[in-house]
Amino acid sequence: MATLDLDLGERGYPIHIDAGLLDKPELLTRHIPDKTALVVSNTTVAPLYLARVTSALDEAGIRYATTILPDGEQYKTLEVLNQVFTGLLENRFGRDVCLIALGGGVVGDMCGFAAASYQRGVGFIQIPTTLLAQVDSSVGGKTGVNHPLGKNMIGAFHQPRCVIIDTDTLNTLEDRQLNAGLAEIIKYGLIIDRPFFGWLEEHIDALRRRDKQALAYAIERSCAIKADVVAADEREKGQRALLNLGHTFGHAIETATGYGAWLHGEAVGCGMVMAASLSNRLGWLDDESLERSRDLIQRAGLPVAPPPEMTARQFRDLMAVDKKVQQGALRLVLLRQIGEALVTSEFDDSQLQAELEARLAASG
Ligand code: NAD
Ligand code: GLY
Repeated sequence: MATLDLDLGERGYPIHIDAGLLDKPELLTRHIPDKTALVVSNTTVAPLYLARVTSALDEAGIRYATTILPDGEQYKTLEVLNQVFTGLLENRFGRDVCLIALGGGVVGDMCGFAAASYQRGVGFIQIPTTLLAQVDSSVGGKTGVNHPLGKNMIGAFHQPRCVIIDTDTLNTLEDRQLNAGLAEIIKYGLIIDRPFFGWLEEHIDALRRRDKQALAYAIERSCAIKADVVAADEREKGQRALLNLGHTFGHAIETATGYGAWLHGEAVGCGMVMAASLSNRLGWLDDESLERSRDLIQRAGLPVAPPPEMTARQFRDLMAVDKKVQQGALRLVLLRQIGEALVTSEFDDSQLQAELEARLAASG
């Protein structure tokens, strides 16, 4: 088993990665000293993996209840989140309860936000079951829900007590979802780790074939990068914003097309191509690097062109509610080269407009 430590002082925690971890109950139960828990999952993941978690809780004599949410990004709302609070209150759970998120990024973000706000904050544990959640969303403590006017606009920073990544859970994941997770893995190479990007170019086919060794390495490397970035900048005052490469474009796509039509990872993949292309237009990223970026994202089975029905105006309006906007100025994560990103508002509005028009024209 690989164990990484996210070093945040008293809020630090371990990230365990290996096949078969759901069969190691003590990894989970040692973090529930007060012996009460609410497991939050969804209608797809619960039939697959809930029994393994609840039997661990039974074995350890932990009093627990379960809340099973509807499955889908379109349910990542305040209304549906209320089901978790209802589950907590109906079972008379107090401040000593520990929430357990069993599922992908949607369940993890919602359960984490419930933990951040229930009785002003209780503990929670992440058991991520999608590739995307294993390499990104379960680590770092960003939690929240969507609003019809903007993605992830309501939320809190709240770190879990531990992250348990059982890579065997990927065996039941659909190919399209696996590809979505590859987007966030490629992101780490693009923003911070050029050798890892090169490794991904060599191993992308193995990853799509679910080669176990390749997946284990990609998950571990991604978590290590994310843990370092979060340890240095937990509240996104600086470097952590780099983890948003492609997200400003991507969130606009997700919101415009209706949450769930494009998977988050697909929107991020396309958004990274748009960010790379704008970086090239600005004279920062060279032609070859743009081509390599687009090629790897395409080989990961991800879309590289925005939805043709969107307009530049729509992009602009939705991008204007991004969390990186400061004093009204849009800031974007752009690339200087593969492995080096920056957050900047140093671009002309006309260049962004031209880029959006060019990408939309090419997709039409
Ligand atoms: P998801 O949670 O919707 O999961 C994708 C699909 O896979 C769902 O239908 C789910 O039920 C199913 N599923 C999950 N595990 C499975 C398994 N083992 N076998 C079979 N099916 C399984 O989507 P996601 O891609 O995991 O996460 C996307 C969400 O994560 C978005 O809401 C995004 O905003 C959020 N996110 C958050 C962060 C963060 O830092 N908090 C980072 C990246 C993404
Ligand atoms: N997924 C971006 C972050 O955690 O900051």
